[in-house]
Amino acid sequence: MAAQSNTGHGGRRWHVLLFPLPYQGHINPMLHLAGLLHARGFAITVFHTHNNAPDPARHPDYRFVPVPDGMSGPAPVAILDVVAHIIAMGRACEAAFRDCLAAFLEEYSRDAVACLVADTHLLPVFEVATTLRVPTLSLRTGSAACCSCFLAYPMLFEKDYLPVQESQRDMPVIELPPYRVRDLVAVAEDHGGLERELIARAVAAMKLSSGVILNTFDALERRELERLRRDLAMPVFDIGPLHKFSPAGDSSRLLRQDRTCLDWLDAWPPESVLYVSFGSLACVSARDLAETAWGIAGSGVPFLWVVRPGLVRGSSADPDPDDHHHLLEGFEAATRGRGMVVAWAPQEEVLRHRSVGGFWTHAGWNSTAESVCEGVPMLCRPCFGDQMGNARYVEHLWRVGFEVGGGLEKGSVEAAVRRLMTDRDGAEMRARAGELKKAAAEYTRKGGSSCLAIDKLVAHMISLSD
Ligand code: UDX
Repeated sequence: MAAQSNTGHGGRRWHVLLFPLPYQGHINPMLHLAGLLHARGFAITVFHTHNNAPDPARHPDYRFVPVPDGMSGPAPVAILDVVAHIIAMGRACEAAFRDCLAAFLEEYSRDAVACLVADTHLLPVFEVATTLRVPTLSLRTGSAACCSCFLAYPMLFEKDYLPVQESQRDMPVIELPPYRVRDLVAVAEDHGGLERELIARAVAAMKLSSGVILNTFDALERRELERLRRDLAMPVFDIGPLHKFSPAGDSSRLLRQDRTCLDWLDAWPPESVLYVSFGSLACVSARDLAETAWGIAGSGVPFLWVVRPGLVRGSSADPDPDDHHHLLEGFEAATRGRGMVVAWAPQEEVLRHRSVGGFWTHAGWNSTAESVCEGVPMLCRPCFGDQMGNARYVEHLWRVGFEVGGGLEKGSVEAAVRRLMTDRDGAEMRARAGELKKAAAEYTRKGGSSCLAIDKLVAHMISLSD
């Protein structure tokens, strides 16, 4: 992509300010966006909390401004704690962010700042920027369908889709096809209103902003993007898949990547290896881990498995590389020679590797987008949030994989892995995923639709400061 020189009033270079939510699945798309805007000539300043702070040494071209978040201890891992943490953290860093932003605006002329892009889940950041007259754009890191679901939340309660009743789980949500009630964000038991609050605040943040940026593209979500543009009545920029414009490499990860798995993959025939990973937050029970392990072992399929610290409910999230070994006692010996277990993988590169033929995933949006863009079909085991909805699209709409639901048993895992990796059914899913890969390549090529959407985003950013 051609680097342009974007200069502000008085010939100074335009700044774009960014504020990611400090979780891996949110940091990655924000730093992809940073790379993309930097390539377009913008100076990049990243405001960040102390929790999960990025490493400035990995981004020598950007300026980093730490914002005291007033939160003690590491970021939580249990999902309800994460939701509470996100809300509390936003509130806790509000005053400090006001000071940091005011100081920044004093140092750099206000005229040189094009806008601030913040994660949709950081409402106080939008409020502070608005009072200091800095225009904002909202980065929503999930799908367009999920974003529409957020906007539809009041309707979903009004029409009794939510809170979910066990008897209605399979009922279609006619206003949001192809979702069923079970696919909606927060279908689980009463979460004390926390998720409802999180979503209401995200919608308020989007409405306060001057546009929404999405890591998706038309070939995946044409109808959903149209609906979103209609419902939001503000510019919506579908500039995905972001990782194709600015690959993460090693730059944004919070855990140390084990890159030896790329050499290990080299030894296998094309499309033969199953990659297994549940992202950065999803947890599994020790029982499910064991059933999954022995099911994969029984399938006879070679595999690369990410067992990150803290993956097993109740286990330590400390990055002790040996932590996972005792959890899989006997399994590694039984599968020696055709399996590799790592604590964290260079996932984008793994999915791009010619040997990888399938992905057992929790269906987080980044993982889903990365997989379809590399033509890798998926086995989805969604856990929370937007993951159920993403899995629905994978199975029902794009037909590039299927969900492994219900209680996990070794035998059903074995059958599911074989279906994806060696059956005709799986080959058809792989062929359809290959079509999406071609579409992603077409969208991200020079002059492709996503590139044009980026041009529009850049023009919009600059126009905001007029
Ligand atoms: C969370 C939510 O779970 C997800 O549903 C939401 O859309 C974003 O926030 P996370 O659970 O971490 O994200 O999943 P996902 O969205 O898939 O993001 C994980 C990221 O970590 C991906 O970009 C993936 O490439 C990266 N990753 C994962 C690695 O680099 N190495 C690994 O071993 C595993």
